[in-house]
Amino acid sequence: MGARYDESFRRSIDDAPDFWAQAAALVEWVTPPTTILDDTEAPLYRWFSDGVLNTCVNALDRHVESGNGDRPALIHDSSVSGEVTRFTYAQLLTKVAAFAGALTTEGVQRGDRVVIYLPMVPEAVIAMLACARIGAVHSVVFGGFAPEELAARIDDAQPVVVLTASCGIEGTRVIEYKPLVDAALLIAHHRPRRTIVLQRPYATASMTDGDIDWAQAVSAATPADPVPVDATDPLYIIYTSGTTGRPKGIVRDNGGHAVAMAWSMRNVYGIGPGDVWWAASDVGWVVGHSYIVYAPLITGATTVMFEGKPVGTPDAGAFWRVIHDHQVKALFTAPTAIRAIKKEDPTADMLAEHDVSSLQSLFLAGERLDPDTYEWATQHLGVPVVDNWWQTETGWPIAANLRGLDPLPIKSGSPTKPVPGFDVRVVDESGADVGADHDGSIVIRLPLPPGSAPTLWGDDQRFVDEYLSAVPGHYTTGDGGYFDADGYLYVMGRMDDVINVAGHRLSTGAIEAVVAAHPSVAECAVIGVHDSIKGQLPRALVVVKSGLNPDPQELAGEIAASVRERIGAIASLKDVLIVSALPKTRSGKILRKAMRAIADGRDEPVPATIEDATVLVSIAPLLRDPTTGSS
Ligand code: COA
Ligand code: AMP
Repeated sequence: MGARYDESFRRSIDDAPDFWAQAAALVEWVTPPTTILDDTEAPLYRWFSDGVLNTCVNALDRHVESGNGDRPALIHDSSVSGEVTRFTYAQLLTKVAAFAGALTTEGVQRGDRVVIYLPMVPEAVIAMLACARIGAVHSVVFGGFAPEELAARIDDAQPVVVLTASCGIEGTRVIEYKPLVDAALLIAHHRPRRTIVLQRPYATASMTDGDIDWAQAVSAATPADPVPVDATDPLYIIYTSGTTGRPKGIVRDNGGHAVAMAWSMRNVYGIGPGDVWWAASDVGWVVGHSYIVYAPLITGATTVMFEGKPVGTPDAGAFWRVIHDHQVKALFTAPTAIRAIKKEDPTADMLAEHDVSSLQSLFLAGERLDPDTYEWATQHLGVPVVDNWWQTETGWPIAANLRGLDPLPIKSGSPTKPVPGFDVRVVDESGADVGADHDGSIVIRLPLPPGSAPTLWGDDQRFVDEYLSAVPGHYTTGDGGYFDADGYLYVMGRMDDVINVAGHRLSTGAIEAVVAAHPSVAECAVIGVHDSIKGQLPRALVVVKSGLNPDPQELAGEIAASVRERIGAIASLKDVLIVSALPKTRSGKILRKAMRAIADGRDEPVPATIEDATVLVSIAPLLRDPTTGSS
């Protein structure tokens, strides 16, 4: 056990071009690449730069052409409507080609951007693949973001067309999407040519000039043929939170991505053609892009798309019901979903009501897998519970237990070892290795493997500055952790201003900007504090302007409402505490690092002055205590 992993990992590092040239054979090319790794613009690297392909062909056409058109491609299961809709590969291809035709009719061409703001409906998958088919670049924006955030993404991506629906459903609440898009378009400077609107039965969107009905757009269109694109052409942009409020447009290319998806589905997750696979995430997140849509379809597997929550719709047995109904072989979700189920049904009684014997593994990612959740899932499901660590930027796992290649013993608290292609190091501030069992910053030696972000949309310099500059020749992940003596990696959490709330990545900087804009607030710090279900929750510590004495409850309510309105409900800021001062450096910068360390239960750096130490000590209980409610 481990020899195949060791050999594969070594080869991927010692002779990366040879390793990835072999993996490239998993993909169908119009022109196979002869240049595997292009380092002419290092530290920006490109993979398969002279290759030509089409990602949609790899996801759909080739399976139909090889005689598997009748195989189920997509099962959409909505616990909110109670409906299940199935698409074979041939049916999905017909839908995608038709919608690609509609986009072409609306003037979308190769390289143009399309913003997709849709709930978890099959049309989201159809729209993504339709963009890929004609070489357009999609940017899916998670439905929980507010108009201002959507507008920022529209201004950055400059789409020709925006796609939306009349509504999404959150639990039992109907959330109208179209008014949110209309509001975003009023805020945005960029003007898309069209908004294409999917009318759902639960709400009817009112249409204005420039809007077109989805069904009407499709009925008037001629199905589009696939457009061959360069491997280095962008397939999509996905915006993610950084340390500042300005979201970062992570770029994913076509060639490297297709290879990484095909390789990882088989080797990391052990999924092959015909297997039923369920990634219970949202298409708005990277997990949704990679493992609801592209990887399973490129592999020829059946992907389950679930609209609903793990608890409450109708109960804590929703996940087990879906596994049973569709004979799911492997489930991928975030630990927070399992914690939510565990809270509602601690003894897993609902599990006994469903036959989940088809399930062979549970994959968890998106945040640290805490030992309690690991133990609970292992005990009740009786299958390997496999942690895997990655980021929007990499697009696929950096560290994992490679179930398809060479399963290794699982250690609770560790996502196991670096995945082939990712030369992971744990370093100190000087960039030197810290050695086994010592904490440090997790970096990856360049080049990153295929599928990882080659750059940020329209901003190579920001990519270099934010990711590639701290340790020359390396990508800085932003996470801290350590290797144990067996080479297992432990990822302990972010070392920057990014927090992870219910598997959703958020910037405390962005939340702080909204809190600071409240007229009563002199200064503030937003810190992620421990939460037993969501992993972390944002907590705002605010100093009010001198001479003001606002009612704490009212102030908290107003701040929470404006964060919800300007960032979105997923920011979940409900906890606002008034403090008399915040600890600062000599130059007046708030000691966020020390505050974060206290909140994470790590040793905090000692502040420079006695006054700061006193302030830090006074606020420490507010950071450590997860049960402190809103004041
Ligand atoms: N559109 C509009 N609003 C949304 C939304 C969407 N797509 N997604 C979430 N929201 C809202 C929720 O309704 C909630 O509103 P509320 O404050 O009025 O209740 C708020 O945003 C916070 O949502 P969430 O953080 O998801 O909390 P929750 O209590 O509704 O659900 C979990 C908690 C753990 C059950 C849920 O987050 C979950 O299943 N997460 C794991 C799976 C996942 O998607 N992970 C992503 C990466 S793998
Ligand atoms: P996202 O870009 O939304 O996928 O969030 C990436 C961040 O989530 C990482 O930088 C980590 O902080 C955290 N994360 C994701 N998966 C794991 C994991 N398996 N263990 C620990 N942290 C994780």
